[in-house]
Formats: sequence, structure tokens, C-alpha cells
Amino acid sequence: MVMSSGWSIWIIVIVALHIVGYSWLLFSTSKMKEEDHKEGDTTGHEWDGIKEYNNPLPKWWLYMFILTIVFSVVYLILYPGMGNYKGILNWTQEGAWAEENAVVLKKRSELFSTFINKPIPEMIKDTKAMEIGERLFANHCSSCHGSDAQGAIGFPNLADNDWLYGGEPAIIVKSISAGRNGVMPPWGAALGDQGVKQVAAYVRSFSEQGQDAELVTEGQAKFGMFCVACHGADGKGNPMLGAPNLADNIWLHSYDSGLLETVISKGISGKMPKHSELLDDNSIKVLAAYVYSLSNE
Ligand code: HEC
Ligand code: HEC
Repeated sequence: MVMSSGWSIWIIVIVALHIVGYSWLLFSTSKMKEEDHKEGDTTGHEWDGIKEYNNPLPKWWLYMFILTIVFSVVYLILYPGMGNYKGILNWTQEGAWAEENAVVLKKRSELFSTFINKPIPEMIKDTKAMEIGERLFANHCSSCHGSDAQGAIGFPNLADNDWLYGGEPAIIVKSISAGRNGVMPPWGAALGDQGVKQVAAYVRSFSEQGQDAELVTEGQAKFGMFCVACHGADGKGNPMLGAPNLADNIWLHSYDSGLLETVISKGISGKMPKHSELLDDNSIKVLAAYVYSLSNE
């Protein structure tokens, strides 16, 4: 970061004054004491009969102070610290990071070279690729999708070959790199409590026998008006929108204890964060292959 030259000069002056000030303090106190010192001198301070001896600093201690001053001067010549002065080594935090990162990327591209150019359905046969994918998944994905990738309420299971957006390799890559944000609008206002109950009964009837027939009939009509645009006429969902299949008895948000009614009435959304800025393309490809492998052996 470059600061204005006013600030820069101000900082240089303060740092220089400090170094000069410390040096002066150190030398003036240590010199004086060596010449004037008499055995048994006290500073004149006394607490409850305990007197403070006025002895000079031990020599090694003094040398250590001098060493720290010399160190700081040498450091400030070599490295940035004096305002905008860059130091003769030209060291920067960004430069140091870029150097380390280049080493990591080079190592990684060597490590990836045996499999990274294969298409994903081929890559999943490479055990080393899958080991790396599993490790990347544990680091970057398991906090939301679970260490076994089986998800949780609101976080899709990635191992069951049931997809919100689709399970083709290119789609998985896109889900990871660009992120996803499925939005189910709230319907409580449009449907009313009774309408929500009816539609919920219809949705339940896809996976469970024994729903109230009257509710289901009413619900079906309302589903045709309000829901088919996203979930399809047969409730099978739409991968373009991430609208889940409601007819397969696989639930992203729990279906029990009235939650179905709550989801329909209040709406709900899920956000898969974009990873293209966190991970390089090759790591994303390996991750996509790992996810793909969970439902394709
Ligand atoms: C902060 C939580 C979070 C993290 C971290 C996260 N995900 Fe997700 N992911 C989600 C959510 C939530 C969804 C569902 C999005 C929706 O409802 O539209 C999702 C969706 C997906 C999908 C689409 C699934 C489908 O059925 O189409 C894939 C693939 C995926 N994630 C893979 C990953 C991978 C690989 C990682 C690690 C790089 C990862 N996710 C990290 C929360 C997360
Ligand atoms: C604008 C598109 C859209 C419309 C219209 C819509 N939904 Fe949704 N619905 C979604 C999306 C997207 C999700 C997934 C939300 C997420 O990613 O968390 C969803 C999720 C759901 C879920 C949860 C599914 C699960 O697996 O847990 C239910 C139930 C549901 N919708 C029912 C309905 C009903 C009933 C209607 C009509 C009253 C409706 N939806 C209308 C887009 C829509």
C-alpha cells in the first residue's frame, strides 16, 4: 500500500526519533552510572525500609539492548518500514505470497498432470484424482454438504444421483464455480391457510397414500395455477431453476412436522456460494469429478 508522502515523512521522522531517543536513553543512563557508581549507592527511593540500589545494568544486558537497536536499523534498511521506502531487498508481502503460490501451483500442476486433461467420466477411474478430490471436498464443501456428501436439511445430498440442477459433469462444474441460488417464493398470501393445506396435501399425495381426497383435488387445481411454472405439471421439478422434484420422496427441506406447509406459505431459498474465486479451475474440475463419482461408478 502506498501512503501519501506527508504520511510517509511523518512515519520516517517518528521511527528515526524513536531509535535516536532509545539510543540516547540507553547510553546516557549506562555511561553516567559506570563513572559515578559507588558500591552501596541507592537511588534514594525507600519503601518500608527497603532501599533501591543504584547499580548499572549488567554488561550482557546492555549489549543486548545495543544489538536490538543495530538489528532495527539493519532491518529498516533491508525491509519496508520507513514510510514508503521499499527496503533494498524490495521485499513485499504480495511478492512473498506470489512466490509461495507459484511453487504450490507448480507442484499441483505436476501432481494433476496425469489426470487433469481427461474428461470427468474418465477421471473418476483415477484413484489419485479421487483422493485429491476427497481431500478438497473435506476442506471446502463438507461444512455444508457433510463429510459423506449426504447433505442436511437445506443442503442437498450430492451422493444420491438426485439433482436440483443436474448431474452432468459440465453442470456440476457450473454449480461449483458459479454457485446456485434457488428461490421458492412465498405463497401464503395468494393461497390462504386453507389453500396452503390443500396444495400440501396434493404434494404429499405424490409420495404418500391416504391423503384427504377433497383436499388433494382442490390442491391439484391450485398447483396447476401457482406451482407448475417451476415444478412442472407432474411435480417433477425444473433443473433450469433448481426447482426440486416434488414427486420422488426426496426432500431438500424436511417434509415432516408441518414444514411442507411452512415452506409453501413462507417460501424458502438456498444458496450455494460461488467458488470460482476461491479455487482454481483445475481444483474445481477435480472436485466436480469427485462429486460425479459419488453417483457414477
Ligand atoms: C455455505 C454452504 C455450502 C458450501 C460451502 C458448499 N455448498 Fe454446495 N450447495 C449449497 C446449497 C445450499 C446448495 C443448494 C442450492 C439451492 O438450493 O439452490 C448447494 C448445491 C450444490 C450443488 C448442486 C446440487 C444439485 O442437486 O444440483 C453442487 C454440485 C454442490 N453444491 C457442490 C458443492 C461443492 C463441490 C462444494 C465445495 C467446493 C460446495 N458445494 C460447497 C451449500 C454449500
Ligand atoms: C418461481 C419458481 C417456483 C414456484 C412458482 C414454486 N416453487 Fe416451490 N420451489 C422452487 C425452488 C427454486 C425451490 C428450491 C428452494 C431451495 O433451493 O431451497 C422450491 C422448493 C419447494 C419445496 C421444497 C422441496 C423439498 O425438496 O424440500 C416445496 C414443497 C415446494 N417448492 C412447493 C411448491 C408449491 C406447492 C408451489 C405452488 C404453490 C411452488 N412450490 C411454487 C421454485 C418455485
